[in-house]
Amino acid sequence: MKIIHTISEMQIFAQNSHRSGLTIAAVPTMGFLHSGHISLIERANSEADLTIVSVFVNSTQFGPNEDLDRYPRDFKRDCEICEQHNVAVLFAPENTAMYSSDHSTWVTEEDLSRPLCGNSRPGHFRGVTTVVAKLFNAILPDVAVFGQKDAQQALVIRRMVRDLNFPVRIIIAPLIREDDGLAMSSRNRFLSADERSRALVISQTLLSLTPENLDTEVIKSKISSAGGTVDYVEILDAETLRPVHLETVEILVAVAAFFGKTRLIDNVILKP
Ligand code: PAF
Repeated sequence: MKIIHTISEMQIFAQNSHRSGLTIAAVPTMGFLHSGHISLIERANSEADLTIVSVFVNSTQFGPNEDLDRYPRDFKRDCEICEQHNVAVLFAPENTAMYSSDHSTWVTEEDLSRPLCGNSRPGHFRGVTTVVAKLFNAILPDVAVFGQKDAQQALVIRRMVRDLNFPVRIIIAPLIREDDGLAMSSRNRFLSADERSRALVISQTLLSLTPENLDTEVIKSKISSAGGTVDYVEILDAETLRPVHLETVEILVAVAAFFGKTRLIDNVILKP
């Protein structure tokens, strides 16, 4: 496996690969890889000749009071995991290479970015779309794989790709859960044993829902009773992130809640 730190080397590798007739699948990550990421890598392996995983903790998607400084990092372990899963290149650019000190260009998606995490994390999706656009310009992928765990992020990126004509096919891979149901996330490691067991209320509640028993207040009160602080519980059209209507094909039930200082997100998709 190659480890590349500079954008120019990444672009040259990608251009040479395309010239040799090889296709590239990108798996953008912020590192601290877990089984959820591994499922994205495996999907990428099945979609293209070469899988390129990026590991970059993107400062511009964190708000001033968020957990950028304590976001977990373990580059050595990330390398081992990528190596074990047939990743061709681990792309780990430096912050200074990604963002010049006078960086002044942003990519903003202005519809799907508004509700849910867009409300509670102002500027978050501007950081995500900007870095993903930059990663695509470095990795030059044919296809990119994102997880359903970040349902809104995946929709925003798919819209950006469509609107800006990126020649990249977006795959949204299923959400992966721990054996007890907790949605996998790099942030789970911040949970104390007690917080972690109380946080199971989120997945237990979501997985028990049917289209007939949807009530945001009931979900909120279950999470609060377990000691969580609800950020949002919303029931929306899974394509448009607008209120569910008669033609809705899939319903997204999305939750964000704090257990201790750790903000967890989770979701399920239901057919009406
Ligand atoms: O989902 C993530 O890990 C990040 O938001 C992403 C897509 C790698 C952009 O920094």
